[in-house]
Amino acid sequence: MSPLHVTRTLPEDATQAALRADVLHGLTATPKSLPPKWFYDARGSELFERITELPEYYPTRAEREILLARAGEIAAACRARTLVELGSGSARKTRHLIDSLTSLEAYVPVDVSESALTRAGRALIGERPGLRVHALIADFTAPLALPGTPGPRLLAFLGGTIGNLLPAERARFLASVRSLLAPGDGLLLGTDLVKDERVLVRAYDDAAGVTAAFNKNVLAVVDRELGADFDPDAFDHVARWDAEREWIEMRLRARTAQSVKVPALDLAVDFAAGEELRTEVSAKFRKEGVSAEVAAAGFAFGHWWTDAQGRFALSLSVAR
Ligand code: SAH
Ligand code: AVI
Repeated sequence: MSPLHVTRTLPEDATQAALRADVLHGLTATPKSLPPKWFYDARGSELFERITELPEYYPTRAEREILLARAGEIAAACRARTLVELGSGSARKTRHLIDSLTSLEAYVPVDVSESALTRAGRALIGERPGLRVHALIADFTAPLALPGTPGPRLLAFLGGTIGNLLPAERARFLASVRSLLAPGDGLLLGTDLVKDERVLVRAYDDAAGVTAAFNKNVLAVVDRELGADFDPDAFDHVARWDAEREWIEMRLRARTAQSVKVPALDLAVDFAAGEELRTEVSAKFRKEGVSAEVAAAGFAFGHWWTDAQGRFALSLSVAR
């Protein structure tokens, strides 16, 4: 059985420095915000997995339905020898794709969550002996260097995670993804679609409170890593649909006026009662928007598949 290779592209102190910079910038800005990548320590990754099983959170089931129906077509269209997956998490759905990619020699999952990467990598190696699994602990919004595995490559970005980037970040990200690929390589992109506001808000504000715990986990990360004294119970979870920008915003709303200390930054952050801290956007897409964005990044937009209820789409584009 081949071993699991894990490469950390950023040393731990660089990750700490990035967190400090994001917290300093985000908590001293008006309005306050934090980037969503800091949700995913081991507990955050576990909470996300629980979210994927909630009755209200349809994207994972919808994307799995598409993958199950289309994995054969995807494999026939790209004949990939290397599958690169950004934000791979548990890589549960990816198994369907891997099973169909009969020419596959290497799988390169990329994630900031070391716990998710090692767990998923070990499980895969057990199931697909002979498949080289080279996991990268890396931030996919920063420049990436991929291991020298054989082409053609298929780069998958599933789950709708592209929606967690702001529009300008998305454009930069897609251009950098294109620069990792050779002409003819594939981009398999999962995008959640615009739909009824009530369905969307329920998916981000579930009855069991798992999404609220996931949202508040970012405060626990800042407390642990930077010695801050956020009290997660002093904030309420908020999920709101922005109809103009067509995205869900997750926020944390201060229940009372409070001052939070962040000793590692020698900073005190004041919150007014009711003040909101934005922790995530989750953009929802339309076919025209996705095709325009991937084309602008240098891809020929190809297949577009949705689940039977039209809630979620997978698209397959080819690097020009
Ligand atoms: N693809 C999986 C997981 C989605 S959750 C699915 O469809 O179910 C989002 C994943 O992206 C998490 O595992 C998180 O750790 C990872 N992630 C978020 N921001 C990231 C970043 N900037 N760089 C690398 N990984 C990131
Ligand atoms: C990872 N990402 C696509 C999820 C989403 O739906 O935007 C993260 C999430 N946030 C709240 N629930 C799930």
